[in-house]
Amino acid sequence: MSTDPASVVPGPVADVVAGQGPAGLFVSFEGGDGVGKSTQVALLGRHLAALGREVVVTREPGGTPLGVELRRAVLHGEDLDPRTEALLYAADRAHHVASLVRPALERGAVVLTDRYLDSSVAYQGTGRGLGADEVERLSLWAVQGLLPHLTVLLDLDPAVGLARLTGDPDRLESAGDEFHRRTREAFLARAAAAPQRWLVVDASQPAEDVAAQVRARLAPLLRAPVPGPSEPAPAPSAVPTGGVA
Ligand code: TYD
Repeated sequence: MSTDPASVVPGPVADVVAGQGPAGLFVSFEGGDGVGKSTQVALLGRHLAALGREVVVTREPGGTPLGVELRRAVLHGEDLDPRTEALLYAADRAHHVASLVRPALERGAVVLTDRYLDSSVAYQGTGRGLGADEVERLSLWAVQGLLPHLTVLLDLDPAVGLARLTGDPDRLESAGDEFHRRTREAFLARAAAAPQRWLVVDASQPAEDVAAQVRARLAPLLRAPVPGPSEPAPAPSAVPTGGVA
């Protein structure tokens, strides 16, 4: 499966892809449960705010008020068939992008999201067996083709990640070892197919080492001028929305 936007999103849907869209910078973090995405999102957010960038930290599902309701339904509600599950994630994503992500990018912010459409492709497309291409098309339709400039895959053996979790497992965390093994492989295959969009990091390393690799990869993408040491940096405005998972 290709993740080249031009090949998977025919026509006008592909209106915003890396480098061609709004002024801001869109970065997603992906990976299995318990790999440390929320820690990395927070570390990168602090780094970028210190550079004077407007940073919007958000997540899926649940980055908006409607998303919080959808998150509860999909993770803690009644049992769902896979198509319903996929559509709920897609609905959360459509609203998230339309109401929060796209407006932030249009005003030049850096948007860091804890999960985005690659989670649906890995979990619903491959994990649930709905088909990666079909689920990808559904999500791309939902977001009118918006892809991140960079997607960081925090890769970890699911047994290690799941063992880090505390509290009662949600519907997805309870999906079983084989399910989580498939989603990991799906993430890795997607990353290998589009290395220009993806950075794969070994998430068993210390958090600071992971963060340094993310910063190094992002540095060239920070197109807007960063104030030099002699210039006063504008007040950072980190806007956490929906918390971090
Ligand atoms: P996450 O917020 O990362 O989990 P938690 O807060 O419990 O650490 O994601 C919630 C779960 O939803 C996670 O198991 C992955 C799953 N998920 C999908 O299956 N498809 C999707 O499109 C998304 C965004 C998440």
